[in-house]
Amino acid sequence: METNQSFAAETAPAAPTSPWDRWLGDRARVRAARGLHRVESSRDLLMDLASNDYLGLSGHPGVRAAAADALHRYGAGAAASRVATGTLSVHRELEAALCRYTGRPAALVYSSGYTANLGLLQALGGPGSLFILDAHAHASLIDGARLSGARVATAVHNDLADLERLLEENRDSATGAPRVAVVLESVYSVLGDAAPLAAAAELCARHQALLVIDEAHSLAATAQGSAVRAAGLTDCSHVLATATLSKALGAQGGAVLLGGGQARALREHLVNTSRTFLFDTALAPAAAGAAIAALELADAERLSRLGRNARLVHDTLAADPRLRPRIEQGAGAVHSVMMPDAASAVRAAASLRARGVAVACFRPPSVPDGVSRLRITAHADHEPGALLAALHTIARIILEEES
Ligand SMILES: Cc1ncc(COP(=O)(O)O)c(C=O)c1O
Repeated sequence: METNQSFAAETAPAAPTSPWDRWLGDRARVRAARGLHRVESSRDLLMDLASNDYLGLSGHPGVRAAAADALHRYGAGAAASRVATGTLSVHRELEAALCRYTGRPAALVYSSGYTANLGLLQALGGPGSLFILDAHAHASLIDGARLSGARVATAVHNDLADLERLLEENRDSATGAPRVAVVLESVYSVLGDAAPLAAAAELCARHQALLVIDEAHSLAATAQGSAVRAAGLTDCSHVLATATLSKALGAQGGAVLLGGGQARALREHLVNTSRTFLFDTALAPAAAGAAIAALELADAERLSRLGRNARLVHDTLAADPRLRPRIEQGAGAVHSVMMPDAASAVRAAASLRARGVAVACFRPPSVPDGVSRLRITAHADHEPGALLAALHTIARIILEEES
């Protein structure tokens, strides 16, 4: 058996020799000095107020059975890209199920929400395009816009006046009017607040701009199962939605959802030009099967239980006058509490974990405004009494850690 000493000697990092070694060491030291060191984390055996499994479907017997059935029927992987023999009937069934669920006539499934955002923006980008991104847009939208070769502008978060200013400024430029797409999230992933979708869609229509809405945190998680549907935008050609199947649906994968007269033409365009669709192995069959079953289960009754628990999260934390000003009015399952700094956020999350409660800890660079937060997500299957007890613990620990 190894002694601790010899193990330590074997595993002690060698003195940096190459520029890459020195750079890696420097980066690790900077992270440690700023209190930004991250570790992989699991929620096993904890009260889960951290994951995005909002409807509790990832472990649902029906979802597991559907995943296993697809696995047995089609194999472990799709083995090719969708345009190179990777399209399986389970992908088509999933696209049809997404259309039924969202009321949109066309859907295209990707291997993740990240690749859906990357692939959509890349396919719309290039010279002559301008993306106006909300300042709180998710990293996948920022990366997609940057990689697309389009010009990128940033609008103040949820500020329609600033959006209108940018649209007006770019109506005509010296090089001709750009093709403009405004890029928002329906429910923002860190603060949990909602975008003014109907007003943004009207503004975009007036300026002949497209509106891209990332429904990652609203598909199967807010009223009517879709914020685009709830805002009455299902049939709008100029509104393009993306979604992930890995949050409320508890599976894996992503999708682009299209409506109106241009839906089929846009889908065709993506099939032919979207690089993360063309050059990525198609979604694993088990994930596609799981997502189909999850869509069946994401019904009004589950959504209403999620809504009830989300209100309980907000109202319980906001009942304390010291916490109320630090909480956004979350529009979906996500509620965030501002923390004074990254170190107190990490301490509070660790302390809660030791008490059996998992909450997420968001700090730079994963926050859009540099403010560290504890992120608490509501889940449909939490029993209200147990949830209330966990929320009281959260409020107490946040305040104790700061005193
Ligand atoms: C707003 C938003 N868009 C896209 C994604 C990426 O989705 P996926 O995890 O399916 O790649 C996430 C996940 O964190 C997200 O929060």
